Amino acid sequence: MKLLVIGSGGREHALVWKLAQSAHVTQMWCAPGNAGIAEEQLQVDQSLVECVRISAEDLPNLLAFARETKPDLTVVGPDNPLAMGVVDLFQRDGLRIWGPNQKAARFESSKAFSQEFMARHAIPSARSGMFAEPKAAKDFAASLDGRCAVKADGLALGKGVLICSGMAEADDAIDQMLVKGTFGAAGSRIVIQEFLEGTEISLHALCDGRTAKLFPTAQDHKRALDGDHGLNTGGMGCYSPAPFLTDEALDDVDTCILKPWIQGCAAEGIDFRGILYPGLMLTPEGPKVLEFNARFGDPETQVYLTRLENDLFELLDASVAGTLDRVNLTWSSMASVCVVMASGGYPGSYEKGKPIRGLEEAGRLEGVKVFHAGTTRSGNAVQTAGGRVLGVTALGSDLVSACDAAYKCVEEIRFDRACYRRDIAAKALQWREQ
Ligand code: AMP
Ligand code: GLY
Repeated sequence: MKLLVIGSGGREHALVWKLAQSAHVTQMWCAPGNAGIAEEQLQVDQSLVECVRISAEDLPNLLAFARETKPDLTVVGPDNPLAMGVVDLFQRDGLRIWGPNQKAARFESSKAFSQEFMARHAIPSARSGMFAEPKAAKDFAASLDGRCAVKADGLALGKGVLICSGMAEADDAIDQMLVKGTFGAAGSRIVIQEFLEGTEISLHALCDGRTAKLFPTAQDHKRALDGDHGLNTGGMGCYSPAPFLTDEALDDVDTCILKPWIQGCAAEGIDFRGILYPGLMLTPEGPKVLEFNARFGDPETQVYLTRLENDLFELLDASVAGTLDRVNLTWSSMASVCVVMASGGYPGSYEKGKPIRGLEEAGRLEGVKVFHAGTTRSGNAVQTAGGRVLGVTALGSDLVSACDAAYKCVEEIRFDRACYRRDIAAKALQWREQ
């Protein structure tokens, strides 16, 4: 099988790494990929994955490349090409592609659509309202005493959510989106949710339009600094499993969230084939959905795929074919921890082009995989090329040993102004001690 993977981050490196282990895969391209992806070899014949210089959002050139090379399956990593309709475009050309079509991708590309869908199908979420007029939005925020999350309806590079603790902040957030247009068209309609207290976790479910198979739990660390301080980022680290949900509670999530979601999709003619990734808040009244994403999380993918025992190609193939009911997902009982190493200044402005040292030594450590995110090769050297640079991911018999292995590896790697959180998985370890 010949595969094309679209994207260039740590998530896509993990997807490529896992797909390269499949006995079915004989050739793989990644558009545009990164320095780490270009070093991955296929298990069948040790041939290298080939990175092609086409951006993940350049749909015409992706289609032209696929028409020429005829991959048996294209795998889409990021949200933007999904929202732009890459799946529909490829399918119209008879090309097989994995990911939700444009209509199904609305679960991520429109928060208003998701919120209304949850209301229609009684899926537990935060109390919320949808607004295009500032006055009505402010009245609703006032009914919550200003303790709310103000969210741009559309995709805003993960920055379109403003958390407010009082009316002054809520008024300002509403004005920013609806009056000043800080988030452009994405913010011309907003969702306001009541602020939910609790522990936040990530869930993923692989779907084929009829069946959804739930992954184990994971927890992302969205804030830039230790102790959940600083700005929201794409994710500074992750671990799996997260101990806060028992197996019974996970069954409840299946019953109260996934089942009504699948039934709702069927009733509304939404054919979702891909990953549904709900962000959940575990509240005293039970789990509530904060948002839906329609793709693999980053860095959730890095911890999930290091624990996954199935052949990933077979899973994605079944998701496209609608045969997931015949597949059992199996997971290693080991814990996985991913520590993201980022460029100084991220998620604000940062410099690129810093040489990265110690990758070879790090690569020799047992039980650790260094996934590249924002990296590029310049001659013999690998350099930084993005905000999130590497996702150092380790497996261990428990979270403590996985953490130790990941941080030991992080210490081997150096680049100018590298920063990372030192408390990945700390919440889980403290929770266990209670
Ligand atoms: P979202 O992109 O909608 O997941 O929001 C980004 C982050 O904002 C989430 O990961 C939460 O940490 C926080 N957040 C979003 N909605 C709420 C809410 N209703 N209550 C509390 N925190 C929230
Ligand atoms: N880990 C957060 C995200 O992928 O959106």
